[in-house]
Amino acid sequence: MAARDDASSPLVERLVLALNGRRYEVAAAELEPSTTLLEFIRTRTPFRGPKLGCGEGGCGACVVLIAKYNPATDEVTEFSASSCLTLIYSLNYCSVITTEGLGNTRDGFHAIQKRMSGFHASQCGFCTPGMCMSIFSSLVNADNSKRPQPPNGFSKLTVSEAEKSFSGNLCRCTGYRPIVDACKSFASDVDLEDLGLNIFWKKSDRKPDVSKLPSYTFGGGICTFPDFLRSELKSLQQHTDDVNTTSSKEGWYQPRSIKHYYELINSTLFSESSVKVVIGNTSAGVYKDHDLYNKYIDIGGIPELSSIVSKSEGIEIGAAITISRSIEILEKESKSMSSPNGSVVFRKLAEHMSKVASPFVRNTASLGGNIMLAQKYSFPSDIATILLGVGSTVCIQVVGEPRHVTLEEFLEQPPLDRMSLLLSIFIPHWIADSQTDSSLVFETYRAASRPLGNAISYVNSAFLGHVSFDESSGDHVLNNLHLAFGAYGTEHAIRARKVEKFLTGKSLTASTIHGAIQLLKDTVVPAKGTSHPEYRVSVAVGFLFSFLSAHVKGIAYPGKTFSASSANSLDMIDIYDWPLSSRQETISGDEYKPVGEPVKKYGVELQASGEAVYVDDIPAPKNCLHGEFIYSTRPLSFVKNITFKSSLSSQKIIAVVSAKDIPKDGQNIGSMSMFGDEPLFGDPIAEFAGQALGVVIAETQRYADMAAKQAVVEYDTVDLNPPILTMEQAVQNNSYFNVPAVFYPKQVGDFSMGMDEADHKILSTEVKLASQYYFYMETQTALAIPDEDNNMVVYSSSQYPELAQTVIAKCLGIPLANVRVITRRVGGGFGGKAYRSFPVATAAALSAYKLQRPVKMYLNRNTDMIMVGSRHPMKALYSVGFKSDGKITALHLDLVIDAGISEDLSPVIPSGVISALKKYNWGALSFDIKLCKTNNTSKSAMRAPGDTQGSLIAEAVIEHVASVLSLDSNHVREMNFHTYDSLVLFYPASAGKDSTYTLRSIFNRLALTSSYLHRADTIKQFNICNKWRKRGISCVPLIFNVSPRPAPGRVSVLKDGSIVVQVGGIEIGQGLWTKVQQMTAFALGKLWPEGCEGLLERVRVLQADTLNLVQSGVTGGSSTSESSCAATLQACKLLVSRLNPVMNKMRLQSGTVSWDNLISQASQENVNLSASVYWVPEKGSNSYLNYGAGTSEVEIDLITGAVTILRSDLVYDCGMSLNPAVDLGQIEGSFIQGVGFFIYEEHQTNSDGLVISNSTWDYKIPTVDTIPKQFNVEVLNTGYHKDRVLSSKASGEPAVVLASSVHCALREAIRAARKDFANSAESGTSPLTFQLNVPAPMTIVKELCGFDIVEKYLENLGHKPASGA
Ligand SMILES: Cc1cc2nc3c(=O)[nH]c(=O)nc-3n(C[C@H](O)[C@H](O)[C@H](O)COP(=O)(O)OP(=O)(O)OC[C@H]3O[C@@H](n4cnc5c(N)ncnc54)[C@H](O)[C@@H]3O)c2cc1C
Ligand code: FES
Ligand code: FES
Repeated sequence: MAARDDASSPLVERLVLALNGRRYEVAAAELEPSTTLLEFIRTRTPFRGPKLGCGEGGCGACVVLIAKYNPATDEVTEFSASSCLTLIYSLNYCSVITTEGLGNTRDGFHAIQKRMSGFHASQCGFCTPGMCMSIFSSLVNADNSKRPQPPNGFSKLTVSEAEKSFSGNLCRCTGYRPIVDACKSFASDVDLEDLGLNIFWKKSDRKPDVSKLPSYTFGGGICTFPDFLRSELKSLQQHTDDVNTTSSKEGWYQPRSIKHYYELINSTLFSESSVKVVIGNTSAGVYKDHDLYNKYIDIGGIPELSSIVSKSEGIEIGAAITISRSIEILEKESKSMSSPNGSVVFRKLAEHMSKVASPFVRNTASLGGNIMLAQKYSFPSDIATILLGVGSTVCIQVVGEPRHVTLEEFLEQPPLDRMSLLLSIFIPHWIADSQTDSSLVFETYRAASRPLGNAISYVNSAFLGHVSFDESSGDHVLNNLHLAFGAYGTEHAIRARKVEKFLTGKSLTASTIHGAIQLLKDTVVPAKGTSHPEYRVSVAVGFLFSFLSAHVKGIAYPGKTFSASSANSLDMIDIYDWPLSSRQETISGDEYKPVGEPVKKYGVELQASGEAVYVDDIPAPKNCLHGEFIYSTRPLSFVKNITFKSSLSSQKIIAVVSAKDIPKDGQNIGSMSMFGDEPLFGDPIAEFAGQALGVVIAETQRYADMAAKQAVVEYDTVDLNPPILTMEQAVQNNSYFNVPAVFYPKQVGDFSMGMDEADHKILSTEVKLASQYYFYMETQTALAIPDEDNNMVVYSSSQYPELAQTVIAKCLGIPLANVRVITRRVGGGFGGKAYRSFPVATAAALSAYKLQRPVKMYLNRNTDMIMVGSRHPMKALYSVGFKSDGKITALHLDLVIDAGISEDLSPVIPSGVISALKKYNWGALSFDIKLCKTNNTSKSAMRAPGDTQGSLIAEAVIEHVASVLSLDSNHVREMNFHTYDSLVLFYPASAGKDSTYTLRSIFNRLALTSSYLHRADTIKQFNICNKWRKRGISCVPLIFNVSPRPAPGRVSVLKDGSIVVQVGGIEIGQGLWTKVQQMTAFALGKLWPEGCEGLLERVRVLQADTLNLVQSGVTGGSSTSESSCAATLQACKLLVSRLNPVMNKMRLQSGTVSWDNLISQASQENVNLSASVYWVPEKGSNSYLNYGAGTSEVEIDLITGAVTILRSDLVYDCGMSLNPAVDLGQIEGSFIQGVGFFIYEEHQTNSDGLVISNSTWDYKIPTVDTIPKQFNVEVLNTGYHKDRVLSSKASGEPAVVLASSVHCALREAIRAARKDFANSAESGTSPLTFQLNVPAPMTIVKELCGFDIVEKYLENLGHKPASGA
């Protein structure tokens, strides 16, 4: 078809777009309409920058910049978008920029990429391309604005915008702080001295200035819309509308008028159900497609849907206008309106909308799409609620004439079908009522698990009315009330009419509010099955109270924070808007240069530019197929049959691989450890929900994913016992795994004697800790390629390729030598890609073996979350005896751990728990540990396994003791610190020398540097002054046992002097390669007395290859970097010993000798230039203790339960850090991961044990808006440690444990709240006796503070509910 028809016909027959300035044209016949932009980029172009992290708009790994050109106005608009949700056909004649388009190895890197690198803002790198694009988009937007020109070298971006620019992007590694710094470095109002550790200037530099930063070209410096596309679009525009609706093709339809739409929809073409009507298609992130669609109708091009009409009565916004654009429109309108009162409505609507989803979703998500979701699917929309609150109306078209109805009526209609089009939304102007002398009041509220980053509301509301002062009563009176509530488990947002009526015209007093609240509780009733119903009702009550109480005298108004420092100040401080700040203290050693220097991460620019190759980035070999697991949704059931629903995606199935396909010499094995094996497939019994039953093979990953969803599994439980799903059931059934004696931790002293010494006892108190999902940004993935002679090459994203090789070989029944497992880099592991990576690698290998074609598997996020397993949930019952001064004399622990279905590494978890617990001197310590075998996914090691839980249990005991004795927790902590002698008793194998026991000095130092005592005092004052906000502070110590394992290493020098290093350790983002690179340069530099410059850049660290370097072992336990460095050092020493004679000879001849000359001469003399070693730690170096301490201060909002970490300070003993920047990154990142565990991440299963928190939608890892507002980290250099690798200590895991300080501070804050409200209530129980389990999200915080605190408060004021309620 000719170009002229393409633009005007509803059926798009070819797709033209520019990607990073290159033109792409594809005929529609070759490209399915359901193809996303991400899939297009990754499978049809050379670009791999955008990554697939979730496929649901929830992580930002796939963010790109889209530019659209309007030939009529000659304007280009640019915005970020999630390429995983954007359908490729919606971008016809658009331009797309990925991170490669910003900069790359060939053309040079962009300032964003260089600054991300230089601020150490990338670890595993999987999130980095998306981060770069979100930052780029913010810069471009800011620079396109009409603000004044910034100083040279800066953008118009502000610091506050920089902090929000990537609020929807997830990073599981860094803890966000360095990314914020990289982004802030562009802001025109930044003080460069506030920025964190970087390579551009040293802390000692007197005044950092912008010239030291990689230079930034104003506007971003990238041509986002190429000229060739402009010209094409211009010429297309000149052609007429020549409409053809009779086409019979599958594909993408773009009606240009309402009439066209109905012609299309009524034609026989669209009678079947495989058609989808879309605008931004972001709803696919919410309600996942369950089958393929072969026809799409994009209604975004219908002019009526894109119009914006500003009228005197209000503003009409077309349904296809994006949320971002709506925000701009509302902001603009609010500024232009004359009435200061009226503008409030628009401004607050815009503010609320800015908290919906994330920038890259809002940029493509339409206002109408949001409201339609609320109308059709009971979506818990924010926008529907707030627009309802301002009395909006909508214009809908149901075939015939357009109709105007109120939004309320619209939402109440039965779900509309595709015969109805939403055309526009009308938002009226609201102004003060001059006749009644009343002013306008308007507020919106939302309670969500994150303030900004991508979290749906538990409940939201919008309240509007006119308030006037009644002279006679001296009270305020409300009229024209609109009270809208939504998302609380309702079909759609509602107006609380009865409450409105009740309040209208009444004097606003405490008893009126109380009456309104009683009525509200009858109105806001969550539907059956809604999670946290009481919480939602209670928050709704809190919101109404907040709104009304502002107009009542003598009521503590929740919207205000009373500052303790200036007693009279009533300033409202919104803590969410507090600017982020940070301080990093590191000491670089120069004794072992370049070891000890904060050099930037090896290959980091490649990560930022998207050129770093992860498994899914390896170009698919010819004939490559793709696989996705079918998993059981039931525990302990026979699998009788697997069939597939009849659907478009089922037609794409090429094969199903199952246990039947395992070769006769092979075994049904999917994972193994030294403790036992786990089958690959549940055959004939599915033992747990989430177990693999087979693999669906198809031509593309999307087909395989979709087809796997079509599986219908027939189960049978005849003759089977009920499954064991809880720890309690396991105990009842004696279902345990054995913990071999050598792994069973050692008790200390005599518990009974210790209890006899005690003045007080606490008996059998429970603390529960739930699970945590790894949430590595790259899900499990493997590519298996059959090779000659029954060999298999498997590229696996694994922390343990060596054992993956064994499992694959056993499954296929072939020798180990026939299996080559290659791992270059891993997009985050955290323990989840050690033993849990094997099933994917093995399934891919088995599929490739059966089909004799390459097979790639890249688990989609939901499948990964359901199948892979997680951290060990556990519960502890403690009994503790103690003296009146706080000295603990004995502790006993009954510990029950859920290990899931297989042993995995679980038998080592008890020793982790107890090791962390031993950080205090308990006098006597005894325990009974049960490792439960349950019909749940196998639990596996996750960062600081066991230690994380053990430390929290220890702190729970300490705080309990402190609260019983009414002592300061810190006092009790210090009372129970080890002496060196007791340290040796508790840690006989690793205590080290007296001089290395640094905990006490660290703790004291932290108390000093964090002004702990002063702040604790201020907090007391704050809590007295504030009714609805409470603060808490806590300080926890850390002792962490590290056990380095043997490791191989090989260092080879090539003829040209370049150096390649192979080590057993895998680069999972922890900076292992960087440290190895530094170590190589240092160790080979020893050939010169003063070291050798320039060696660092010559070192290349190679990917792991199990046939090339054997005995590589597992990467985990924090110690792999130092083991790999130790092996490297040893190999280099060998080389040095061989090169030294050559060197000496040359020196005699010519004085100075260069590296190049030395190597060239050594080659000529046939010196062996490759050295292999296997480093085995000696006694003394195979186990040691790490020390640290962390203080955190939190604030809780008693109305919503929201937690804000105001400040965290960490001090950590790194020995002599091998690379302070890398170690700092590890410490910060692991701390934030710990915050996720202790506060945010709710790992939930259904009654069958199936994981239901299986997406970014309902599993919330920390985002940039949830990190401490102030985050200070000090990496101590404690000097020379004889038995360590160049005196260094590990940093990867221990700081996770320090996040328990946030949990403890939270407990303090809740305690303050309970004290307050219990005083005003009649309840007889001690408010201070409560248990705070893990995690402690806002719903729990609110529950512990009391769901009825508002009512209690009002009652306590002596007011009964006003009559009429
Ligand atoms: C990660 C993420 C987080 C989110 N967070 C929030 C949040 O916190 N609060 C919130 O309120 N929302 C949230 N959303 C929802 C988001 O606002 C909606 O997905 C979005 O507005 C839908 O717009 P769209 O243009 O992409 O609609 P589409 O996905 O294209 O369409 C949605 C549905 O509406 C129909 N439709 C669309 N427009 C019309 C029309 N004009 N007439 C008739 N039918 C139509 C379509 O057929 C489809 O059924 C989130 C979404 C994502 C992906
Ligand atoms: S992959 Fe697109 S947002 Fe996660
Ligand atoms: S660096 Fe951000 S996810 Fe790894």
